[in-house]
Amino acid sequence: MPGNGSLNGDEAAIRAAAEQIAAARYCTALTGAGISKESGIPTFRGEGGLWTRQGEPPMNGYQLFLEDPRGWWLERLEQQRNPPEFAKAIATARPNPGHLALAQLEQRGFLKHLISQNVDGLHLDAGSTRLTEIHGNRRKLRCIACGRRGPARDFGEDDVPPHCDACGGIVKADTVMFGEPIPRAFIDACFAEAAKSDLMLVIGTSATVHPAADLPLQVLRRGGAIIEMNVDATPFSAYATVSLRGPAGVLLPQVVQALDSFDPRPERPAV
Ligand code: OAD
Repeated sequence: MPGNGSLNGDEAAIRAAAEQIAAARYCTALTGAGISKESGIPTFRGEGGLWTRQGEPPMNGYQLFLEDPRGWWLERLEQQRNPPEFAKAIATARPNPGHLALAQLEQRGFLKHLISQNVDGLHLDAGSTRLTEIHGNRRKLRCIACGRRGPARDFGEDDVPPHCDACGGIVKADTVMFGEPIPRAFIDACFAEAAKSDLMLVIGTSATVHPAADLPLQVLRRGGAIIEMNVDATPFSAYATVSLRGPAGVLLPQVVQALDSFDPRPERPAV
């Protein structure tokens, strides 16, 4: 669909977004670091981003982990004692009005599924339940052999590196590392949701990291629409039917309020 997006979070654009959400048969959302910015967690890229300031981490993080899992775990345990900026921010962060608005959209039946690239767990804290965390969750661990995942207490961190009780495989953080294949189940769930979507909200993501950035593309290719919410333009701005400029924590509650006069359509996937 061509992008003739309304710009800025003005009333007409908010109303247009609400109308499209209410008219959608199966609306999903993709979020990125921008939605957690107002919870005090820095983004990666763009102004003030972690990597803009500190440089990008090595692109072969998973290979480095496989070469020396014990070394990686020792470093992690040291970081738990002396957390770096990102970990410190996540440890104290609470959901902001943007996270809460998305949970409300789900509860009211407007949002059928939420895909987040964030590992901070704030969508869960806000009450979202129809959720896939495509890059994992920082509060969980995962066995690289059988894929079992859960909170650290389920694995026991006595061994360094810990091993899976179920299969004996090496356990790592659930967070997907650079160079690591995203677990099949996460990918399949995300693409299945995108295939069902006639509308996807693309919120607070630079939309530069694949395969997550392929999800809105898939919606567009199948004739669906996207609505973007971001403080800056992104590669998807030109394709969005509505492009709302501003902080997600301000825009999303406005959209929820504008939906007060609408009922969701019955759930009917686009396929
Ligand atoms: P980025 O840091 O790449 O992009 C954040 C986006 O949020 C930018 O487009 C900003 O303009 C926008 N933004 C900033 N503040 C905002 C606000 N208050 N409201 C709305 N938008 C705002 O983050 P991601 O796109 O999430 O992977 O990055 C994707 C992946 O790159 C991450 O999941 C991470 C990293 O590799 C893993 O952790 C595996």
